[in-house]
Amino acid sequence: MKQYEVAVVGATGLVGRKMVQVLEEKKFPVKNLTLLASERSVGKEITFNGEKIKVKKLTPESFKGIEIAIFSAGATVSKEFGPIAAKQGTVVIDNSSAFRMDPEIPLVVPEVNRNDIFKHHGIIANPNCSTIQMVVVLKPLHDKYRVKRVVVSTYQSVTGAGQKGVDQLDEELGKKAGTTYKFPHKIAFNCLPHIDVFRDDGYTKEEYKMIFETTKIMGDDSIKVSATCVRVPVFGGHSESVNVEMEKGYDLKNVFELLKKSPGIIVEDDPAKNIYPMPLNAYDKDEVFVGRIRRDETAPNALNMWIVSDNIRKGAATNAVQIAEELIKGRD
Ligand SMILES: NC(=O)c1ccc[n+]([C@@H]2O[C@H](COP(=O)([O-])OP(=O)(O)OC[C@H]3O[C@@H](n4cnc5c(N)ncnc54)[C@H](OP(=O)(O)O)[C@@H]3O)[C@@H](O)[C@H]2O)c1
Repeated sequence: MKQYEVAVVGATGLVGRKMVQVLEEKKFPVKNLTLLASERSVGKEITFNGEKIKVKKLTPESFKGIEIAIFSAGATVSKEFGPIAAKQGTVVIDNSSAFRMDPEIPLVVPEVNRNDIFKHHGIIANPNCSTIQMVVVLKPLHDKYRVKRVVVSTYQSVTGAGQKGVDQLDEELGKKAGTTYKFPHKIAFNCLPHIDVFRDDGYTKEEYKMIFETTKIMGDDSIKVSATCVRVPVFGGHSESVNVEMEKGYDLKNVFELLKKSPGIIVEDDPAKNIYPMPLNAYDKDEVFVGRIRRDETAPNALNMWIVSDNIRKGAATNAVQIAEELIKGRD
């Protein structure tokens, strides 16, 4: 089997470190792993397949000979270095928001639109974490019943704000001291209806990502999405309350069966035994967990669900590594 020269950009971050872990767990065919970050991290060591690899500084020369580079160092770094890498023949899988809405750049969740990977011109975008877990569940429903409208409220982990988000909650819980504050308010014992920056229309950019990324990944502009994104003092993953209106009528039993057999989904739904998805259980798992599946009687063909997933894994690292796996497998 061919082995690949792989780089992780932002290797010291929450997502980057998970990326290294997932590449190892999934036995991705890595010939050499190059770990890149800012000057601050030069010389730090990260273990991959039992070998300690030193982190190097990201420079325009970093991509010589690299076949696949997975970026997770923020949009500014991606905008500067993504095109440089792509120009040198590296395929970039980018976790930031830099290229997601560029019509020339595929935005991929393998369970939903795998074949879009092969439309790439050197850069493939990995969607926003809260969008990924939602579309994995919407896809089979859309194929069978045609999703018309989605109303989603999120309950997003502090890990979604990177290491600084985790540090702030740790400090407020007395587990750490001397960190700089990431959020505009205290997050312990609190909820902030504020993720990313506010736009003039009152929505946040995170809410817009869910609206527009969903239609791009699903390949259907007619799907309407209304989102409210909330940061909660949780570590393990993002949760979402999702209300879906569909064109066709459904039998609830068939919806359960459909979701149970769909890729990447685990149905956890037994209210009598207090079984439903929770971020504590989703932590460090690759799947999207769905439960509390019930009919919404207030609108025709409507459904309520609770969707949970580890945003650092399926919402970021796992999805990116899956894209790399599909890329090397080639077209269907
Ligand atoms: N957290 C999530 O749930 C999530 C989900 C999907 C996508 N993402 C995206 O993934 C990216 C990283 O997120 P994260 O949560 O891992 O953040 P993080 O923990 O803050 O890590 C940021 C990483 O970027 C590196 N970096 C920052 N500035 C750099 C520069 N000028 N040159 C080279 N490297 C630089 C950092 O290196 P140093 O350690 O050297 O500073 C670190 O490795 C972001 O674009 C984010 O939007 C995050």
